Amino acid sequence: MITFQLINMKKELNDNWDYSSSLEAINHIQLKKKYTLFIDGKWIAPSKNTYFKTINPANEETLAEIASASKEDVDLAVKAARKAYTNVWSKMPASERAKYIYRIARLMQERAREFAVIESLESGKTIRESRDVDIPLACNHFFYYAGWADKLDYAFPNRKIESLGVAGQIIPWNFPLLMAAWKIAPALAAGNTVVLKPAETTSLTALKLAEIIEESGLPPGVVNIVTGFGETGAAIVNHPDINKIAFTGSTAVGKIIQKALVGTSKKVTLELGGKSANIIFEDAPIDQAVEGIVNGIFFNQGHVCCAGSRLYVQEGIAEKVIKKLKQRMESLYVGDPLDKNTDIGAINSKEQLQTIEKYLKIGMDEGAEMYQPKCAIPKKGFYCAPTLFLNVAQSSIIAQEEIFGPVLTIQTFRTVDEVIQKANNSPFGLAAGVWTDKGSRIFNLTSKLRAGVIWANCYNKFDPTSPFGGYKESGFGREGGLHGLSAYLKLS
Ligand code: NAI
Ligand code: MG
Repeated sequence: MITFQLINMKKELNDNWDYSSSLEAINHIQLKKKYTLFIDGKWIAPSKNTYFKTINPANEETLAEIASASKEDVDLAVKAARKAYTNVWSKMPASERAKYIYRIARLMQERAREFAVIESLESGKTIRESRDVDIPLACNHFFYYAGWADKLDYAFPNRKIESLGVAGQIIPWNFPLLMAAWKIAPALAAGNTVVLKPAETTSLTALKLAEIIEESGLPPGVVNIVTGFGETGAAIVNHPDINKIAFTGSTAVGKIIQKALVGTSKKVTLELGGKSANIIFEDAPIDQAVEGIVNGIFFNQGHVCCAGSRLYVQEGIAEKVIKKLKQRMESLYVGDPLDKNTDIGAINSKEQLQTIEKYLKIGMDEGAEMYQPKCAIPKKGFYCAPTLFLNVAQSSIIAQEEIFGPVLTIQTFRTVDEVIQKANNSPFGLAAGVWTDKGSRIFNLTSKLRAGVIWANCYNKFDPTSPFGGYKESGFGREGGLHGLSAYLKLS
């Protein structure tokens, strides 16, 4: 309740009352001007000598130059990974492999603050998010999977366990280090070696991770980091000597990858887009639910594959929920990602901002009613105010397509059956949220909603032990937990 008193107080005092900024220091981080490729334990220049700039989306300033890996560079990385797999990693006792994974986790933890700052500088996400969510979770994934490395027989009892070989991993820009951890940690624990490509707008924390991997003494070639654009990703996907592809990103690219892999023996997991439903029943704890809605779609700028981007509110409380939600939105801070007060940081790229703006226009053209709070938006950099759309039809584009920004559509419902039907009426099926006081209703919905993850009376909660992944166009395969480990093993 304290929060709401504060919000009201702020509203009354209006513009005269504000938080003074509290900027995270950036003088302790070390960035090179130019980053080469991390292949076979060495830093090597790209064969075509091409580099691209990575910028800070909060002010459009260049942070560093990043190597663009060619097909030849990818081939070098795959060869290094194969050699390391055959000669070293697959032969090493599992308890020894575990030690390296633990060491990586500890080194990451020691440098957590540096990782958090770099993550915020390059991705635009708030320091609060990278400091409290991304980096600790990334470390926890390494710790968790390190624990399984020498216990695979217990993880999958009575099964014959074999590693796959070389894993090619392609990740997006919304959780750069966390996605690298989700991919690398289980692959190593299962005894595979890795070629990983970060997204072109967020390579830095993966390259910092490469520095830590170097420091950890991990045998050369076990983890290779190649940077670049879609063509670099495609070179990984199409490389004949890769045994497994793990991809997180857009559904469009997921489909291209799936087509490319048809007829090959490569194993594949795809974690794609979403349009997840957040469902609020009349008996829900409304203030917590409002906080959960805000957390589900506005924090991290809506750059979350499982974002609760479709809100379904039971009719009787719709007016109240919308009023409270608007009030809460008035108190959200949009601005410098490095300011500890900021709730909504910068949109990751100009292209993504244009995509979001395109959808805002579509929403208005479709006749939905748009609401944005009167918040100040920085002039430089890529920013988007938190946005609600009311009077949305189930068939409207903004309720069907993934926007990947701080944009929420609101619809109402009367009965349980109606909301199940509406929530499932989507090409995606990644996540959902259910807010109600009634336990039996939660279980009824969790069994009927076609979504990989369903949160009850909370949203966006993650833990390394819990599997994550989707239905339908949200992809297939699971990451996290034992399911995530089995995706990197041949079990017979
Ligand atoms: P994207 O799917 O193009 O990029 C993700 C990764 O795939 C990047 O590392 C990229 O370099 C790589 N890539 C691109 N084309 C490739 C290809 N042909 N073969 C192999 N790798 C390839 O995503 P993008 O263009 O950055 O974002 C577009 C939309 O995708 C967003 O607006 C959002 O809706 C969705 N998206 C979903 C994510 C999720 O977590 N599910 C993450 C990022 C974007
Ligand atoms: Mg793309």
